[in-house]
Amino acid sequence: MTEETISRGLEDVNIKWTKLTTIDGDKGILMYAGYSIEDVINSGAMAEEIQYLFLYGKLPNKKELEEYRKKVEEGYNVPDFVLDLIMKLPPESDAVAMQMVAFAALAAKEKDFKWDKNTDRDVAAKSIGMMNTITANVFRHIMGKGPKKVEKSESYAKSFLRTVFDREPSREEIDAMNTALILYTDHEVPASTTAGLVAVSTLSDIYSGVTSALAALKGPLHGGAAEAAIMQFAEIGDEKKVDEWFENLLKQNKRLMGFGHRVYKTYDPRAKIFKKYAEKLIKNSKEAEKMYKIATRLEELGIKQYGSKGIYPNTDYYSGIVYMALGFPLKNNMYTGLFALSRITGWEAHFIEYVEEQHRLIRPRAVYKGPERREFVPLEKR
Ligand code: CMC
Repeated sequence: MTEETISRGLEDVNIKWTKLTTIDGDKGILMYAGYSIEDVINSGAMAEEIQYLFLYGKLPNKKELEEYRKKVEEGYNVPDFVLDLIMKLPPESDAVAMQMVAFAALAAKEKDFKWDKNTDRDVAAKSIGMMNTITANVFRHIMGKGPKKVEKSESYAKSFLRTVFDREPSREEIDAMNTALILYTDHEVPASTTAGLVAVSTLSDIYSGVTSALAALKGPLHGGAAEAAIMQFAEIGDEKKVDEWFENLLKQNKRLMGFGHRVYKTYDPRAKIFKKYAEKLIKNSKEAEKMYKIATRLEELGIKQYGSKGIYPNTDYYSGIVYMALGFPLKNNMYTGLFALSRITGWEAHFIEYVEEQHRLIRPRAVYKGPERREFVPLEKR
């Protein structure tokens, strides 16, 4: 083995087959099990229908959806000790790290978990429900509120918003939250999904898989970009300062967050949808409106600078403005926590696909380039 055999960033490695998501990075096409992302959003589908599609490989009929939603709702009742753990963390903690604590706690409790074709999907559905209560409580804690379990309502999106904000969300807010949930459901095998797959390939449990995936999602080059992108708009602070800020970014050779993608070499189709929602929602928030104006000017400059290299806005570029307009505070990596709330479905669907049908321990090799064999000198003689 030589250094040339190393696949840096595993860029050209296919780690598994999938029936879940397909991406055409050159044409900017994203499909969930054969359904284009635009068709899914335009159909007005509920996030739960898409969760079902990922776990069961087909769209549910009304009865199947009802049964599925009951399993998810069962998960809303997260064990009290998990919520206690969240509430004991310093409220200034990172939101995704708090989600990790909660899932690690579930892994600790479910020590007898076994992968089983007959029960995997039920466990996944329930844990998708748990993620709703966990994320809502992480947010409540950051916002200085006490614990509160999510209760069932007409939708996963509505139940979440209601629990975070202690009020009835509007139809428009529910629609935007539902859309964000769908847009982030899955994206083939990015770093987080791969990290989770490595964990479950050892036949570790599903909660540990989610904990590993969360750890990888957190970084600014992956899910952390959801918050990093809007942070840079906040740093610019004024539409008039965009050009000067961008010039400085170029001088410092820094990256524009929310731009560029390992797979997409054109405009990310999810970014187009998020942009449309951001435009619709900014009337509800002066701050979000300001961010939107900054973002659109910066987008123009970014595309002019990087477009020829295939670097365009990715899904994280406009999502933060939607979250801000919905009233989520821009702090503690909460926007990446919202990414995770949605992505748990994709993670678990990939875990199930891998463990049930194509399982093999993931154990790559490294090319050794240290010293040749040499004499070990005892401490007293060094
Ligand atoms: N701003 C400026 N230059 C960039 C950017 C960017 N956002 N992204 C890539 N480049 C340049 C990079 O400097 C390099 O240039 P050169 O060839 O001259 O050295 C070239 O493009 C290739 O970059 P790379 O890092 O080798 O490419 P990659 O496939 O690893 O990049 C990426 C993917 C997402 C890590 C990168 O585009 C990036 O850092 N983007 C900013 C962070 C971000 O928005 N992440 C969210 C990704 S999408 C959602 C998700 O997965 O969570």
